[in-house]
Amino acid sequence: MTKASQQDPSLTGKVVVVTGGAGDLGRSIGRRLERAGAIVIGCDIKAQPGVEACDVTDRDSIDSLISRVLDRHGSLDAMVAGAGVVERAAAIDIDEASWSQVIGINLTGAFHAAQAAGRAMDGHGGSIVFIGSWIGAAPARDLMSYCVSKAGIDMLARCLALELAPSGIRVNVVAPGVVEAGVSAQIFREAPERRAAMEQVIPLGRLADAEDVSACVEFLLSERSAYVTGTTLVVDGGIRLAHAGG
Ligand SMILES: NC(=O)c1ccc[n+]([C@@H]2O[C@H](COP(=O)([O-])OP(=O)(O)OC[C@H]3O[C@@H](n4cnc5c(N)ncnc54)[C@H](O)[C@@H]3O)[C@@H](O)[C@H]2O)c1
Repeated sequence: MTKASQQDPSLTGKVVVVTGGAGDLGRSIGRRLERAGAIVIGCDIKAQPGVEACDVTDRDSIDSLISRVLDRHGSLDAMVAGAGVVERAAAIDIDEASWSQVIGINLTGAFHAAQAAGRAMDGHGGSIVFIGSWIGAAPARDLMSYCVSKAGIDMLARCLALELAPSGIRVNVVAPGVVEAGVSAQIFREAPERRAAMEQVIPLGRLADAEDVSACVEFLLSERSAYVTGTTLVVDGGIRLAHAGG
């Protein structure tokens, strides 16, 4: 696996849907897969030019997106379930609406996307990659709903991997550490001192950039990982080795 992207014959012409496609990681993943030769359909609740409208919490919305993709391209080969949100609150203060929103988008939304993709891929195989998080396996203060949603992603992937393997569908998770993207990037822009403190804790000495994550997604979608299913690839610069969430 190289961080630099290049054409990949196993991805050339493959049809890939990326949920959360308007987000920082979603855009980076889409660009990388396009450079590898894939046909990428980004979708997001924030529709914008080049990104289709889709709300992953709404089963009809994702089903109709997949139908349009099948009509237009004839098949679906891969799904990257990347839509996600973070809500911060002390565990005992999380209200019902906030809990439901985080679990609804991060976990139920990923379930909807994967189930729709699995049905579309049935008969010819494919690959599904969820974007989890290193704090799906390590408790983090004030992020309980997010941690629980991402822990759920790991089990969602393993159950699906087991059941979909006979259909030739591989299912895996890329679990980023702290990435220079999305909400994290915003926090570090506003509080540069937190960035320096974080870099001290990360064994590899820097935050992840979006390409670190995209490269791993590409690997798990490509034939280079043909024998890999039901696994979580943690892309965290080793932070889990040094820091138990926090
Ligand atoms: N940035 C990090 O440090 C980091 C670390 C670990 C995991 N992740 C995960 O990576 C993924 C992408 O995060 P990002 O950092 O690019 O953040 P981001 O906020 O830039 O991207 C998330 C995208 O999801 C979309 N989205 C939200 N609700 C949706 C819905 N109901 N339907 C469809 N799309 C919806 C948002 O509009 C947004 O474009 C998320 O799942 C996040 O949890 C990020």
